[in-house]
Amino acid sequence: MGSLRERLIECAFCARLEVKRRRRGLHRRFKTAGFTSHRLGKILRSVLEGGSMERRRFLKYAGAALAGATIGVVAGRQAEVTSPSQIITETATQSRTVTETTIEECTESTCCSATLRAAAETRGILVGAATSSSFIGEARYRNTLAREFDFLTTENEMKWRRIHPAPDQWDFEPADTIVKFASEHQMKVKCHNILWKDERTPDWVKAERSREEFLRILEEHVQTLVGRYKGKVYAWDVVNEAVDTNEVNGLRRNVFLEKLGEGYIAEAFRLAHEADPDALLLYNDYELESADSSPYRKARSDRIYKLAKKLVDDGAPIHGVGLQMHLDAWNCPGPVDVAVDVRRLARLGLKVNISEMDVRITEKELAGTLTERLERQRRIYHDIIAACVKEQGFMAVTFWGFTDAHSWIDEEFGADDPLLFDENYQPKPAYWGVMDALLGE
Ligand code: XIL
Repeated sequence: MGSLRERLIECAFCARLEVKRRRRGLHRRFKTAGFTSHRLGKILRSVLEGGSMERRRFLKYAGAALAGATIGVVAGRQAEVTSPSQIITETATQSRTVTETTIEECTESTCCSATLRAAAETRGILVGAATSSSFIGEARYRNTLAREFDFLTTENEMKWRRIHPAPDQWDFEPADTIVKFASEHQMKVKCHNILWKDERTPDWVKAERSREEFLRILEEHVQTLVGRYKGKVYAWDVVNEAVDTNEVNGLRRNVFLEKLGEGYIAEAFRLAHEADPDALLLYNDYELESADSSPYRKARSDRIYKLAKKLVDDGAPIHGVGLQMHLDAWNCPGPVDVAVDVRRLARLGLKVNISEMDVRITEKELAGTLTERLERQRRIYHDIIAACVKEQGFMAVTFWGFTDAHSWIDEEFGADDPLLFDENYQPKPAYWGVMDALLGE
């Protein structure tokens, strides 16, 4: 791969990533040594505002910070870097050089490490894509997926209708294909989903039966499904799209609500946790982003927040929330609104995953040339992700697919180009928008 300097000449993106990686490493070293910027800020404020007591404390802290810096230097040496200050100077020079280089210089053959997954790693988050087992056999699909992403969501393979279509029939193979592929490429998997709406639940589950019998079916389903992938997957979307603000109680009518009452959601989390105590368990829903831009979205966002809060307050094993983020470029939530939603969920102690992002730009709805529409799309991806990666608790951004060659949007809403790669697997402006956002630019 050559030295950083050589790679800088060769590929602007690889170099940019390297710079970010080093910065993150440095930050981590200082943090380990107790030298956080938050703590320093606090100390400085109290010194400026306070009396001798604060000053004494400051000296104590300054001593600790100095010790921290020394440890940083030692750690740096161990990591074959001379000193933090040298890295800072080096980083600053390199950042300048890098911004002067244009992205056109980056070609696939020279761009060895400039991938979304490498960029996401510099922020300590995951970058994911919904994956379909039927395309994994295609070389371009497989290679792009493995190169760019480190977090796969099963697009359809684990949905009840697919995986457990009849009481005695389980079809694990398509889901297994994705889990195996992920493990071969050092990727994490989020399984999607355990419970969804009636249209997506097999008829046999909805047949007339007693509450006890229904509960037994639910228990068996969760134990078998979650149990099978225990230790092999990272996360589960336990309940999908349970909120409906047109209903009096704000919950979508479905067979689970009808049989078990509102407690079905907590019960599903409890069962999943029992089957795999190490898995990260999420609630997933749409249009919960954007609290303030429309009354409809605000109502949904508030109802979903209330649901998550109640689960947390009741001690249900919920660990995170997925914001689907299927967006229309012509009517989109603003990045600030989305960040506010992420923040308030994170304050409940929950992780937040943008879980199904895509951005529609069909010419039927959005004016402008193709270039203009693609640029609008790039900006939306960039601005929303850039705002979210700054939020504590933001754990991953997942796209609902990655190539315009295969998107549910085409089937569901008509031809569009909602994703990061075009139909020939070439990165679109949207891809670079996401890359920049992950790199904090
Ligand atoms: C979609 C899949 O992408 C399609 O292939 C399938 O036909 C229907 O479901 N919200 C969700 C996802 O939570 O499960 C949906 O996936 C898209 C909307």
